[in-house]
Amino acid sequence: MARRRAAPAAALAFTLAATLVGLCLAGDPYAYFNWNVAYMKTAPLGVEQQVISINGKFPGPVVNVTTNWNVAINVLNSLDEPLLITWDGVQHRKNSWQDGVRGTNCPIPAGWNWTYQFQVKDQIGSFFYFPSILFQRAAGGYGGFTVNNRPIISVPFDTPDGDISLFVGDWFSKNHKDLRKELDQGKALGIPDGVLINGKGPYRYNKTLVPVGIDYETINVHPGKTYRFRVHNVGIFTCLNFRIQSHNLLLTETEGSYTVQQNYTNLDIFVGQSYSFLITMDQNASTDYYIVASARFVNGSKWDRVIGVGILHYSNSKGKASGPLPDPPNDVFDKTYSMNQARSIRWNVTASGARPNPQGSFRYGSINVTQMYVIKNKSPMLINGKLRATLNGISYLPPETPLRLADQYDKKGIYKLNFPTKAFPGPPKIATSVINGTYRGFMEIVFQNNESRVQSYHLDGYAFFVVGMDYGEWAENSRGTYNKWDGVARSTIQVYPGAWTAVLVSLDNVGTWNLRSENLDSWYLGQETYIKVVNPESTNKTELPVPDNALYCGVLEDMQKQQKPHAEALESLSTTITGGRPVVTLLLAALPLLF
Ligand SMILES: *[C@@H]1O[C@H](CO)[C@@H](O)[C@H](O)[C@H]1NC(C)=O
Ligand SMILES: *[C@@H]1O[C@H](CO)[C@@H](O)[C@H](O)[C@H]1NC(C)=O
Ligand SMILES: *[C@@H]1O[C@H](CO)[C@@H](O)[C@H](O)[C@H]1NC(C)=O
Ligand SMILES: *[C@@H]1O[C@H](CO)[C@@H](O)[C@H](O)[C@H]1NC(C)=O
Ligand SMILES: *[C@@H]1O[C@H](CO)[C@@H](O)[C@H](O)[C@H]1NC(C)=O
Ligand SMILES: *[C@@H]1O[C@H](CO)[C@@H](O)[C@H](O)[C@H]1NC(C)=O
Ligand SMILES: *[C@@H]1O[C@H](CO)[C@@H](O)[C@H](O)[C@H]1NC(C)=O
Ligand SMILES: *[C@@H]1O[C@H](CO)[C@@H](O)[C@H](O)[C@H]1NC(C)=O
Ligand SMILES: *[C@@H]1O[C@H](CO)[C@@H](O)[C@H](O)[C@H]1NC(C)=O
Ligand SMILES: *[C@@H]1O[C@H](CO)[C@@H](O)[C@H](O)[C@H]1NC(C)=O
Ligand SMILES: *[C@@H]1O[C@H](CO)[C@@H](O)[C@H](O)[C@H]1NC(C)=O
Repeated sequence: MARRRAAPAAALAFTLAATLVGLCLAGDPYAYFNWNVAYMKTAPLGVEQQVISINGKFPGPVVNVTTNWNVAINVLNSLDEPLLITWDGVQHRKNSWQDGVRGTNCPIPAGWNWTYQFQVKDQIGSFFYFPSILFQRAAGGYGGFTVNNRPIISVPFDTPDGDISLFVGDWFSKNHKDLRKELDQGKALGIPDGVLINGKGPYRYNKTLVPVGIDYETINVHPGKTYRFRVHNVGIFTCLNFRIQSHNLLLTETEGSYTVQQNYTNLDIFVGQSYSFLITMDQNASTDYYIVASARFVNGSKWDRVIGVGILHYSNSKGKASGPLPDPPNDVFDKTYSMNQARSIRWNVTASGARPNPQGSFRYGSINVTQMYVIKNKSPMLINGKLRATLNGISYLPPETPLRLADQYDKKGIYKLNFPTKAFPGPPKIATSVINGTYRGFMEIVFQNNESRVQSYHLDGYAFFVVGMDYGEWAENSRGTYNKWDGVARSTIQVYPGAWTAVLVSLDNVGTWNLRSENLDSWYLGQETYIKVVNPESTNKTELPVPDNALYCGVLEDMQKQQKPHAEALESLSTTITGGRPVVTLLLAALPLLF
């Protein structure tokens, strides 16, 4: 059985390896994944609905690779609408062609497949992928993306006894198309129906709030062992407070940077953020323990059900978890609690990152800023009769033709490089307005949140240094409070309501990179832009060429060869996949023979 499956996988590997070898250094391992992205019926909160699965799994598989590996992921779109997968936090050095957002890639039409191919360079850490268009993340389609240190580079803690990924996120029992329709009709989404942990509803900790028959997540552990938990907020817009009853969370990493190791009893995880904790099973297992992810900064009893509850089960556990959940922070009258917690997350400047030199040898605090943007978000408003949300008065309109492709084929008039450096006084508008980034420049971005809801922002292609945050309006003298030494480098950061957050970023990665609100509804309504980074020198060394398999759309549609939708291909795909497991192990064994 296994042999028969190995043959097509190895053949596929060979063709892929052959096409990849042009781009990547031979010698670095290849990992090949075959994904079928399809709808699946399930009822995580007791109401049957359609979710997006990958190879029959919801959440999808964890892509577990190591720095310098070449990754090829063949994505077969079995949905009834276009699809793009983005790899949040994976930097795609020199290669925005693989970023999987509307500004860099044409969507994969329904029934088609497309292979992402990229090398994981110069980074380590915990990230996640998700479908980036059409509000599909609200239906799932997400999973982990782990980049391990190469064996020669030390990790600043002992090898844990296990590695566990948790995907937490607010959830609606409505399908993503219905949610999209509500936003299109100018309605707000209201209060989520719950929080899922790894695609599952809450344990029945309260008989009134949780109906019978809900499947919940159980994490099985052994007493005395220490596990690395990678926790990702894959939700729509709700910040979640994460905690495990009676256990300390030793924070070690966030989105690719090792942090100063500190214990927390709970941590606020904002939409789009990823954290690694080391958790030691040091309790007496008199019962199981609750794993909790509860809605933050919300008011009113209708939010009581917006709590994810899973179970931490010791192998020597003496009984089920019962009684009240561990308390959330009691900070209703202390709005600085969460911000102080965020400020306490610092970079371990002596730990190695992707390369065997100390991370902190990059002294960001002494580099002069060359470009500065203050980006202010406002609550959704009507523009030309449509509900839209803005950044600096502009609600982004995604063009049919991806920006990066338009540049490649010299198509003018698709977008303007005129994103304002600060909020402009005129009436808000809908436009395709992009930031002109200076290659090798050093950019300061201040996010100013003018809404009453917490926001998080994400930049593709880069990690930025988080140097400051505070309440009120940012002013020149706010720079005096910046952390110029050990601000953590990451790709997603929160901005509290009526507050600002400042980041610094070194624009050394050529490409067109999405800067967006991770709150899915804000993003959908226009809170995004792109930073275009071009090397003025004419060279092919700082950016990879357009991939041979690029899809074409918009004004470039004529360049696209038609693909036969894959009903029968789907059939054959299912025979090469063993229970949803990627064929990667097989392949790695076979590859050295190929070179
Ligand atoms: C991920 O890969 C690394 C090294 O290849 C391996 O040690 C680790 O066990 C894997 N993790 C999981 C969760 O499979
Ligand atoms: C920082 O990393 C170094 C090097 O791996 C390690 O020895 C040290 O314990 C870490 N420090 C903290 C505070 O986490
Ligand atoms: C269950 O939740 C309801 C509604 O929030 C609350 O009134 C009740 O006290 C809870 N029951 C228990 C046993 O905690
Ligand atoms: C974190 O808490 C654990 C107990 O859960 C303790 O053993 C460890 O020393 C603490 N580490 C730090 C850095 O405070
Ligand atoms: C286990 O720990 C709990 C909480 O710390 C304590 O109440 C209980 O008495 C302990 N049980 C045993 C058998 O030691
Ligand atoms: C919660 O409600 C109270 C009273 O209505 C209000 O003062 C407070 O600002 C609200 N808090 C949040 C986070 O909305
Ligand atoms: C930064 O700017 C200051 C003042 O303009 C200048 O003196 C200094 O040399 C610059 N530093 C670097 C590293 O360019
Ligand atoms: C963008 O910035 C570069 C310098 O980095 C400059 O040469 C170019 O003229 C700018 N383009 C526009 C349209 O402003
Ligand atoms: C939004 O901006 C206006 C004008 O600058 C200011 O008066 C108001 O306080 C701001 N609100 C928040 C929540 O930041
Ligand atoms: C890059 O440019 C050099 C010199 O112009 C050329 O010889 C080489 O083939 C180019 N490489 C690629 C991959 O296009
Ligand atoms: C997907 O695309 C590749 C390359 O274009 C092709 O070889 C393969 O047969 C396609 N179909 C499936 C189902 O993966």
